[in-house]
Amino acid sequence: MELYLDTANLEEIREIAAWGVLSGVTTNPTLVAKEYAGRGARLTEEVLFTHLRTICEVVRGPVSAEVTALEAEAMVEEGRRLAGIHPNIVVKLPTTEEGLKACRRLSAEGVKVNMTLIFSTNQALLAARAGAAYVSPFLGRVDDISWDGGELLREIVEVIQVQNLPVKVIAASIRHPRHVTEAALLGADIATMPYAVFKQLLKHPLTDLGLKRFMEDWEKVKP
Ligand code: E4P
Repeated sequence: MELYLDTANLEEIREIAAWGVLSGVTTNPTLVAKEYAGRGARLTEEVLFTHLRTICEVVRGPVSAEVTALEAEAMVEEGRRLAGIHPNIVVKLPTTEEGLKACRRLSAEGVKVNMTLIFSTNQALLAARAGAAYVSPFLGRVDDISWDGGELLREIVEVIQVQNLPVKVIAASIRHPRHVTEAALLGADIATMPYAVFKQLLKHPLTDLGLKRFMEDWEKVKP
């Protein structure tokens, strides 16, 4: 299972990319807004595109950039502009009627599409049938409403395998390291997670303690 960062923050991306384990990045309008909110000036398309291009240059893997249009024609136009930023851009579309129409058209043009905001297996099936390269079920948001995000992911992975559909599953809306383990066990192709969760994956108090002891013992005898 590949590991993606779910962020638009360049410092976070640079730091995790330096570990050598980062395969891609996903962004969304909320994550981009977080980077530019409170700066006074309005975000222009030029600034946004430069930002996305920089992310692509750092991560050297797929970078999902989401459209903000809600109507298919406008989604297709925005998707084409986003795809023109860099060959690694994946256009992210909401799983709506308009999103399906735009997905079919962009996919036919060779643009990779990630269908987002997936909360049911049938939405994933529809997205796959519309030609999506990726589907993104939102585990955490399903858990938030006391349903089972893991069960949703399990069913989607199974349907895609049984039906032999050429689509990758991105476990999204990851809230904690256990979600990542669960996604890997269930056969997700990718898990995309916030920076804080990425850091938590590595941290273990026994690793820190063990290293401290090794260094203390080595200090006593080192040549
Ligand atoms: C997926 O690509 C989304 O950006 C993301 O995982 C949303 O998750 P959230 O529930 O943490 O906002």
